[in-house]
Amino acid sequence: MKLVKTNNELQEKLAILRKNGAIGFVPTMGALHSGHLSLVEAAMKENNGVVVSIFVNPTQFNDANDLKRYPRNLEADLKMLEPTGCDLVFAPEPDEIYPKPDTRKFDFGEMEQVMEGAHRPGHFNGVAQVVSKLFELVNPDRAYFGQKDFQQVAIINKLVSMLDMDIEIVPCPIVREESGLAMSSRNELLNSEERQNAALIYKTLSAAKKQTHEKSVYELKKWVTETINKNPFLDVEYFEVVDEENLKPVENWSGNTKKVGCIAVFCGQIRLIDNIELTNY
Ligand code: PAJ
Repeated sequence: MKLVKTNNELQEKLAILRKNGAIGFVPTMGALHSGHLSLVEAAMKENNGVVVSIFVNPTQFNDANDLKRYPRNLEADLKMLEPTGCDLVFAPEPDEIYPKPDTRKFDFGEMEQVMEGAHRPGHFNGVAQVVSKLFELVNPDRAYFGQKDFQQVAIINKLVSMLDMDIEIVPCPIVREESGLAMSSRNELLNSEERQNAALIYKTLSAAKKQTHEKSVYELKKWVTETINKNPFLDVEYFEVVDEENLKPVENWSGNTKKVGCIAVFCGQIRLIDNIELTNY
């Protein structure tokens, strides 16, 4: 496993790696946990060479405090990646990715006007800026993204089609802590009491999944929000039920498209997201 910090070094090593065959790519912002590692493992199985990037992308943070307190620990990340056998870790400084400010504006239409897009203005534009740059630099055959960031996967699919990039986007299942809480770099910022209470998020989503036959979408949304908000540590920002294909909010369970319940919850200062499939056929 080689650590590279500049584009030049990356291109040098990639040229050698590419001779072996397909390249898999896992973009991350570091503070790695088993969720990230599951993507690396999937990439290792399906490709001949694997590149992981670690870059806390400033342009996707709409909240300066969130960027400031985002956990960073390259040494610990490298220790976690070593056993996966991945080939390259690309950990650039911001100037390497943004030698000049990136002023590109991406238009994802309605898809970015709901959920994370609606509550974090500019977030997906920043994600698109960094992911398109990383895709250009790494030029992978496949790129791996977690379903935990459900809307991000849809945005990235649209991005590659808009830019006509020949990259297969591979979605990977959500990895959870023993309590059911979706793994996240931000979980490190919770104290132990908060972390325990945050387990109610997935507990409630799992209970909701069993109630799609007896509650309307409206009633279920109300129930999930109220159940979580009863906990004094938690404050629901949104809970939305959307069509998996186009991310449009749905008002009833009819139709045979998959529906997904997506939630954002503040646990103290820390914002957590999660989702669950809620199809009732
Ligand atoms: P980050 O939050 O570090 O996540 C990197 C990848 O790991 C994303 O695809 C995310 O969905 C996945 N991931 C995180 N937690 C997971 C979990 N519990 N189970 C499965 N996968 C999980 O997402 C980003 O970084 C950034 O937006 C990025 C795409 C790197 C662009 O900056």
